[in-house]
Amino acid sequence: MAHGLSSRKESAPCFDAGSRYCPCELAVLGQCVACSLLRGEDTCRCGWSGVCVSSQFIFNGSQATLGRASHRVSLIERGEPLLSAGTPKAFFMSLAVPREVAMWSVFPGSFVLVRPEGTPERWNVPLCVTAVKESSLEVMMEVQGPKTTAIDRKALSGSLLALTGPFWSGIQGMEHLRRFGAGSVLAVAKGVGQATVLQVAEYIRHRGGRLEALIGPGPLGSTFAVEPLVETGASVEIMPREKDHNLGRIAEELSSGHHELLLSCGSDDQHRGLTDLLRKMEAPPRFAWSSNLTMTCAEGICGSCLVQGFRGCKAHIPERVVWDM
Ligand SMILES: Cc1cc2nc3c(=O)[nH]c(=O)nc-3n(C[C@H](O)[C@H](O)[C@H](O)COP(=O)(O)OP(=O)(O)OC[C@H]3O[C@@H](n4cnc5c(N)ncnc54)[C@H](O)[C@@H]3O)c2cc1C
Ligand code: FES
Repeated sequence: MAHGLSSRKESAPCFDAGSRYCPCELAVLGQCVACSLLRGEDTCRCGWSGVCVSSQFIFNGSQATLGRASHRVSLIERGEPLLSAGTPKAFFMSLAVPREVAMWSVFPGSFVLVRPEGTPERWNVPLCVTAVKESSLEVMMEVQGPKTTAIDRKALSGSLLALTGPFWSGIQGMEHLRRFGAGSVLAVAKGVGQATVLQVAEYIRHRGGRLEALIGPGPLGSTFAVEPLVETGASVEIMPREKDHNLGRIAEELSSGHHELLLSCGSDDQHRGLTDLLRKMEAPPRFAWSSNLTMTCAEGICGSCLVQGFRGCKAHIPERVVWDM
């Protein structure tokens, strides 16, 4: 049952496995990130204890399921601009979406691809879902370059946007969050990375866990997550700007030994600084991090998110691959 060229790619659990989007077009092309059988090998090397992707493919008539549809969505509300040195840099948007999209966007790590309506997919901007209501969801967007500027302009003029999703690979190391969500989690969130921690806080609250959040303004110059985090019952500390990027404070917090998981929401430099701290510890907590990969399709096709052969929009990337842990 070979569905493509035989290759010895490493298997990784897929964020879409077991969902209505599995099997996807990668299965038909013999490129499934999880299933070695679908990649033309003789043995199963997926290590996944959920629904068998290969069986699911056969059950589906050896065809891909329909992928995520793109929806025309309207802006319900545009939040007050978050200012950095007096300049508007970021804002919340509340978007009217189909109920089904809202329903599946509650998981930590959920994000959507947003672009101006009528533009091709190269305009897609991945944005974390920060809050969900019955038929709407909220995102926070920092205006950075061409794509976010285009969305900013469309949002100001009240035009429709195109939204695809949700996708669930916004946090890598999710298996640790699933395991320790009912335990004690230390989150370090800076700048626009704070957007990722808001759904995590809800998840931990529902699981009965404890979240301690160290929040920094980062280049965005705003600590917008503080109020919603406090509302979820998280314990929150605002980190001042420090020469050592607060690594000393974070090391002190980690050495208390209270935390089972460290979640880093911010830049890759931040992730690197924190994993350096963890490597120096005798019994470090587990590590999860917000994904900063470039993503265009988020369906495993375009290849913009490739990290050492892993398609980061689909695959749970092993931490040893990126952080040597
Ligand atoms: C899973 C995920 C969730 C994200 N969530 C948010 C969020 O909630 N709020 C927010 O403001 N930003 C978020 N981002 C980053 C946001 O998507 C980029 O800032 C945006 O795509 C920049 O596009 P641009 O053309 O405006 O800027 P550019 O000038 O092209 O890029 C500015 C910065 O964004 C990065 N970037 C550019 N294109 C992409 C892309 N397609 N995917 C990821 N990064 C890119 C660049 O490397 C650069 O660091 C997220 C990114 C990912 C991968
Ligand atoms: S974003 Fe296109 S392959 Fe991952």
